[in-house]
Amino acid sequence: MNLQEKESTFLLQTYKRLPVEVDHADGVYIYGKDRKKYLDFFGGLAVNALGYNNVRVKAAIVDQIDRYMHMSNMFYMDVQIEFAEMLCKLSGYPKVFLTNSGTEAIEAAIKLSRKWGKKEERVKLFALSNSFHGRTLGSLSLTDRPKYRQGFEPFVPEINHIGFNNVSDLRQSVDKQTAAVFIEFIQGEGGVNVVSDEFVDELFSLKQKYGFLVIADEIQSGIYRTGKFFAFEHYGARPDMVTVAKPIGGGLPLGGLLVDPHLVDVMGYGAHGTTFGGNPVSCAAGLATLKELSEREIVFHVTKVGGYLKQRLLEFKAKHPDFVTDVRGLGLMIGVECKSECGEFVSQLLSDGVLASCTNGNVIRLLPPLVIQEEHVDILISKLEQTFTKHTKPTTN
Ligand SMILES: Cc1ncc(COP(=O)(O)O)c(C=O)c1O
Repeated sequence: MNLQEKESTFLLQTYKRLPVEVDHADGVYIYGKDRKKYLDFFGGLAVNALGYNNVRVKAAIVDQIDRYMHMSNMFYMDVQIEFAEMLCKLSGYPKVFLTNSGTEAIEAAIKLSRKWGKKEERVKLFALSNSFHGRTLGSLSLTDRPKYRQGFEPFVPEINHIGFNNVSDLRQSVDKQTAAVFIEFIQGEGGVNVVSDEFVDELFSLKQKYGFLVIADEIQSGIYRTGKFFAFEHYGARPDMVTVAKPIGGGLPLGGLLVDPHLVDVMGYGAHGTTFGGNPVSCAAGLATLKELSEREIVFHVTKVGGYLKQRLLEFKAKHPDFVTDVRGLGLMIGVECKSECGEFVSQLLSDGVLASCTNGNVIRLLPPLVIQEEHVDILISKLEQTFTKHTKPTTN
């Protein structure tokens, strides 16, 4: 049996894998077993902020493995506490609950907001249409994509959706029984959709009126991805809680729920917990990653390279108006909306040596490592041209 046959024999077929058997990865490139090299504009789905094989992250992992790999959360672990301190300092939130993944950070936020809302009989939770918040039953109840929801009903009660950027729907939906509104300020899976200023302004003025919580899902858009530590900073907004994951473990499983001071005592001893959440090796990798990103002042780099990427993509759009209909997003979270389905195009781009993703049917989503350079953007553009030529060439019999 070859590797692909073995995969389909032994693993539940929940992933439609790309036709690449990975040998290793280094910097911003992935190398296949066939020695083919792929420029990574996918970033392990926004995880590999520092690219692959970062020396400092690897050393931190090895050092921690030498000390201990797992310890129950019943113990004080210096590395976990230092990681939490750094995350709190960088984020401006005073406390965090650590998880293994993004979806678990969302679950923690659901539980905390339900518990917080209990005394005033606030039970209603909302998310936006087209959102993605994860796949456990709680987070899936917030997720609004039929593709992910179908067949898993019934969902958690009192969770509903507000039309994306639909201000009048927002006004009609929330009230005194609302506990929280979950929001991706830039939707990732949904097609790199940027929430409007008008919607955010109205959300925060309704929050003022009714007193509900706003919970920012920064699992994909957070940790400098958009040119700020969090995407909501572009709006001058201050959510009550923030979920993070993906890059914060430096490639190892780690997530977190950051909470504002008025919520730090809602969940006391025993109210919530996890065996592996905040694993010390993940925290060591995460601490090294956060140190590296902040010491390198990656925020300026992301703004500069992200600006260059957008400008080059807008030129590409101007050249091919019948193919590209929109270029949107911020920093290094960019969506290129195509007139029609982009799955085949992205497959061809992969054969041409660039890894990107196709999301929501017709959006080419770019989430490269934050350390990519302008030269890599130039490679991407020339590959897009090459793929475009092949893609649109009439087939000859
Ligand atoms: C915005 C957002 N929320 C939640 C999740 C779920 O995170 P995880 O896959 O780590 O459970 C994702 C994953 O893609 C995401 O993009």
